[in-house]
Amino acid sequence: MIFIGSDHGGYATKEFLKKQLERRRIPYTDCGCDGSSVDYPDIAEVLCRKVLKDSANKGVLVCGTGIGMSIAANKIAGVRAALCADWYSAKLTRQHNNSNVLCLGGRTIGEEVAWELLEIWLNTAYPGDPRHAARVEKVAAIEASERDCG
Ligand code: RB5
Repeated sequence: MIFIGSDHGGYATKEFLKKQLERRRIPYTDCGCDGSSVDYPDIAEVLCRKVLKDSANKGVLVCGTGIGMSIAANKIAGVRAALCADWYSAKLTRQHNNSNVLCLGGRTIGEEVAWELLEIWLNTAYPGDPRHAARVEKVAAIEASERDCG
């Protein structure tokens, strides 16, 4: 399942992305907001917890810049959130980082670009090349050691 969420700064882009997904009959779950002012960490947390329930899940978070969403999402263990504004990063973050959350800036990129990035990201598989897998595992090890320190 694809989960999609935004704060007010990313709301218009989220609605545009939803329309594109619907047009292609790609199912999604909207985690808010409804356009009213909300705090991006609240939406990021709700969405990420849902994404983590199944390794096949993916999430898309949109705020004004995408930065707040990416910072908040990456605080949650197991989330690999990537803020992207270009197609090469959207592709490589799947292939190299196995990102499970894509963050986009509603006020920094156009809606069509946002859709292009989401489409590329959704359609790019993580091949699990041992070089990259080892690095992704190292990231998880840092996360685990942080938990142990806490
Ligand atoms: C909200 O005004 C704005 O701060 C938010 O959408 C986002 O850009 C934060 O990183």
